[in-house]
Amino acid sequence: MILLSILLCLAFAAVLPENRAEAQPLQISSPENVLQLQFTLENGAPQYTLGRLGQPLILPSKLGFKLAGAPDLDGNFAVIGHQSSTFDETWEQVWGEKRFIRNHYNELRVQLQQQDAQARRLDIVFRLYDDGIGFRYEFPEQPNLTEILIDDELTEFALTGNHESWWIGAYQWNRFEYLTENTPLAAVDTVHTPLTMRTADDLYLSFHEAALTNYSTMTLERVAGYTLKANLMPWADGIRVRTQAPAVTPWRTLQVADRPGDLITSYLILNLNEPNKIEDTSWIQPAKYVGIWWEMHLDKSTWEPGPRHGATTENAKRYIDFAAAHGFDHVLVEGWNPGWEGDWFADGVVFDFTRAYDAFDLEGVAAYALERGVRLMGHHETSASVEHYEAQMEEAFALYERLGVRAVKTGYVGHGQEIFWTDADGNRNYEWHHGQHMVEHHQRVVELAAQHRISLNVHEGVKDTGLRRTWPNLMTREVARGQEYNAWGENGGNPPDHVLMLPFTRNLGGPFDYTPGVVDLLFEEWRPDNRVPHTLAKELALYVVIYSPLQMAADLPENYENAPLPLQFIKDVPADWYDTQVLDGSIGNFITIVRKDRNSDEWFLGSITNEQGRLLQTPLSFLDEGRRYRAEIYHDASDAHWEHNPYALEFTESEVNSSTVLPVRLAAGGGIAVRFVPLD
Ligand code: NOJ
Repeated sequence: MILLSILLCLAFAAVLPENRAEAQPLQISSPENVLQLQFTLENGAPQYTLGRLGQPLILPSKLGFKLAGAPDLDGNFAVIGHQSSTFDETWEQVWGEKRFIRNHYNELRVQLQQQDAQARRLDIVFRLYDDGIGFRYEFPEQPNLTEILIDDELTEFALTGNHESWWIGAYQWNRFEYLTENTPLAAVDTVHTPLTMRTADDLYLSFHEAALTNYSTMTLERVAGYTLKANLMPWADGIRVRTQAPAVTPWRTLQVADRPGDLITSYLILNLNEPNKIEDTSWIQPAKYVGIWWEMHLDKSTWEPGPRHGATTENAKRYIDFAAAHGFDHVLVEGWNPGWEGDWFADGVVFDFTRAYDAFDLEGVAAYALERGVRLMGHHETSASVEHYEAQMEEAFALYERLGVRAVKTGYVGHGQEIFWTDADGNRNYEWHHGQHMVEHHQRVVELAAQHRISLNVHEGVKDTGLRRTWPNLMTREVARGQEYNAWGENGGNPPDHVLMLPFTRNLGGPFDYTPGVVDLLFEEWRPDNRVPHTLAKELALYVVIYSPLQMAADLPENYENAPLPLQFIKDVPADWYDTQVLDGSIGNFITIVRKDRNSDEWFLGSITNEQGRLLQTPLSFLDEGRRYRAEIYHDASDAHWEHNPYALEFTESEVNSSTVLPVRLAAGGGIAVRFVPLD
C-alpha cells in the first residue's frame, strides 16, 4: 500500500472540564465548503442539519438511541467538548474500479454527556466531504455503560421535499432480490440502502452506510412526511444490536451529486472504511471465470447426482480445457459436494463441505486445472444453515487452500427470517440475513478465508458497505437480482431496464457478481418462457458497466465456441481498473461508462439503454491527448432490437483520438462495447 501523501492537521480542539456545558451550534463544512453541517442540542437532545451551497438538504434531524434495560441515550445531554480536524490522503486500492483514491474531509467530533448521576457519554463524529457526509456514534469506555442493548437507533434524515426515489423494500422473504421501485418519497415505506433520490432541483442523493461490522444492517423507514429514520434489522428477540462499550457504529452516509453518474465515482463509502488489514495481498487477484453453473440454471443439468449431474469429472475437465484455451482464470463447479439431493432450500443441515460426490474427483480435477494454468473456484452453498457451516468451515477452507483454490463462492439461499442458531436450552432462534448475527458470521468467514489465502464471492449475503477496503479478499457479491433471474425468473426474468437501475442503486455499495456474458440469449431449447432481454452488444457492454473484480463469463463453452466475436471482447476486457469515468447517464434509462485497464494503457467503453433506442454523441476526451488509438467497436446492427433481433451484433474498427466524437447508436434494449488500443 503506497501512501502518496498524508496531511493531518488538528485545526482546533476544545475539551472542557467534565460536566461543563458548551455553547452551540457547532458547525463544520466540507473542504471546498460545498456541504455545511450544523449540530445542536434541542433541550438536551442531539440533532443536525445539512446544507449544500447554501440550500437546505437535511432539515433538523434527530440522533441518539433507545436502549433496552437502561435509560435511553436520546436527551439530557450537554456538549462537553468538540474537536475539528482535516484529513487529506491518497491511498491505493489493492484492486478496484480506480487505483488511487483521495480521502479528503473535515471532521467534527462532538463529545456528549448526560446531565444526571450516571453521566453517561456518547460521541458523534461527522466527516464532511465535498461529495457527501458520513457520521457515526462512538460509545467510549465508561463505568455506567458497559453492555449495550440497542432497542432503536433514532438517526433521522428529514428531507426537504417529496423527492423521486429508487428503492427496494426491506423485510421481504427474498432478501435483496427485487426489482427497483421508482416512486415519490411519500410512497416509500421501509427500504434497503443504497437508497437513491433526485430532488426537484435535480440533485442526486444516495443514502447508505459504511463499515458495517458488529452491528445490524440499517434500513430506512419513512416515519412522517418526508422524514426517514434508521430501522435496524432486529435479532430474533427484537433487540436491534448487542454490543459493549467501547464500540463504534457503522457510518451513516449521504452522497450528493449534480449528475447521477457522479454518485458512481464517489468513493466516500470506501474512504470511511479502515485501511487494508492484509499484509501480503499477492494472492488476491482480480480474475475472470467460467463455470458449471448456467447449465443448472437453464435446467440442462442438475446440482444433484443423476443422469444429468453437472459436476462430473469429465464435464469439469471440459470447462477447464475451455478456460485454458481462452485465458479464463477460474472454473467454478457447483453441485460437487453431498447435500443437493432433495429440498436443500428448506433446512440446509445437509451439506458436506469437505467431501465430493463420487462422480467428481475433486483432487484430480484441481490438479488437472493447475497443470493447465487454471484454478478451481470453490463453492460453499450453505443454504443459510450457518451453524452447520461454521462447524466445517475451517476444514473446508483448508481443503480448498491445499488444492490451490484462490476464490470461493459462498451462498446463503434461504427465506426471510429463517437463519437459526441454537441457544443453551437447545431452542432455535431465527434471524434475518441482514441482522447482526449474519454480519458477525460473514466477518468470521472473511477472516478465516484470508488465513487460507482465499478470496470470496458472496451470494445472498449482507449488502456491501465497503469492507473490501479493509479485507480486500472480500472481492464481490451478489445481494441483488442477477442474471440468473433471466433463466428462471417469473414474468420472463429481469426487464430490460433492470441493468439501468443497478449502476445508480445497488452497485453504489460495491462490486456485483451479476454474471454477464450470455451469448445464447434465447435458450429456447431449455427455458422457452425466459430469455436475456438485451441485444448481444448490450450483454457485452455489461462487462464495463457492472463492476466486479471476479467477473464471470456465464454461458456454456459450446455457446462461446459458436460465438467467437462476442467471446473475443469477453476475453479482452479486464476485471481490474486504473480509472473509471461515467460520461453520461440517466437512472433507469441509459449510461455510458469508460474505464482504463490497470495493467495497460487500453481504455474500454460500455454504453447501454433501456427499451428505448438512442443516438448519443460521445466525446473521447478521456483518451490520452496526442495518442492514436484503434477502436474495436462491438455495436448493435442497424436492425438490432432486444425483442425482435437481439443477435444482430456488428464489429467495426476505426482510428480515434481524444478529439474524436464517437456516435453511439444504441438499439432498443441495446448497447455498445468498445476497446481502445493505443497505436504508438
Ligand atoms: C443462488 C446463487 O445466486 C446461484 O448463483 C447459485 O447457483 C445457487 N444459489 C445455488 O448455490
